[in-house]
Amino acid sequence: MADIAQHLFGPFAGIGALDLPNTELVEPFDGLLGMFYTKIVNQAGHDNAWFAEQAAPAGPGRVLDLCCGGGRSAVELARAGHEVTAVDISPIQLAAAQKRAAEFGVTDRMAFVRADVTTLDLGRAFDAVVIGGLSVTLFDGDARTALLDTVTRHLAPGGRLLFDHAPAQPDEQESEKVFTVPIRLRERTGFVLVGTLRRPGLRTQFTNMSAELTDKECRTTRQLTGFRFWIDSTERVKEELARHGLSVVAAHRDPEAGAEGQSPATMREFLVAERVT
Ligand SMILES: C[S@@+](CC[C@H](N)C(=O)[O-])C[C@H]1O[C@@H](n2cnc3c(N)ncnc32)[C@H](O)[C@@H]1O
Repeated sequence: MADIAQHLFGPFAGIGALDLPNTELVEPFDGLLGMFYTKIVNQAGHDNAWFAEQAAPAGPGRVLDLCCGGGRSAVELARAGHEVTAVDISPIQLAAAQKRAAEFGVTDRMAFVRADVTTLDLGRAFDAVVIGGLSVTLFDGDARTALLDTVTRHLAPGGRLLFDHAPAQPDEQESEKVFTVPIRLRERTGFVLVGTLRRPGLRTQFTNMSAELTDKECRTTRQLTGFRFWIDSTERVKEELARHGLSVVAAHRDPEAGAEGQSPATMREFLVAERVT
């Protein structure tokens, strides 16, 4: 288990430290909070079309989606005609991705693999590797190196890596946002408390979630999680890629950048890198 408690901030740290009954610290992207996360992010689809277009501009190809989560990009890639292998470490996320593939009728163009992307070796090459939803930024240091080794192991010469990250904006200050979302799960009702804390000076962006559900007998259970995205400048990312024989050929701003109410946490940059060695 990742040390979730060290990622908790503000009210979430308070909940974590209180040692409340029926409170469980859970892995990010697993359990009830994993399902909640997927439901929310699967509604955000504006980047999926971009991944599908950029993956193999010459026509449908073989695409590897690392950290596929609930399958929003992987399924869109398959709908665009690509043959997709979707990889994730979480059984909850993979099950959601498989369900989505069936709903969109693209299961025959998809394969699903449960594995750790830092050690994955499928023994075959792809035309493109996609890593969406800021997943690259979950990894830092040796883990980032291992992830990029996985990318180069699976990319055919001339193949493309497509991913997003969330670099700091010019003069960006620290920012924090906390909000609640009501939820209902069968006979239980409650809410999820969601918070993000972005500290560009420390390269960190935390996301915390706490789900509280009360059943008919008024018993409340709580799940709490926290994870960190690392903030990198575009230059730093380019240097890391170059060390892995990957050269950035295009950078696109988030198509939603500038939308009303948007926070720096969602001002993403989308990069296309090609394998040059
Ligand atoms: C931020 S979510 C992004 C999901 C999806 N790509 C999207 O855009 O909606 C990150 C995903 O990475 C997965 N993940 C985290 N660490 C992993 C690892 N070491 N190996 C495989 N999957 C991992 C999580 O289970 C989660 O589904």
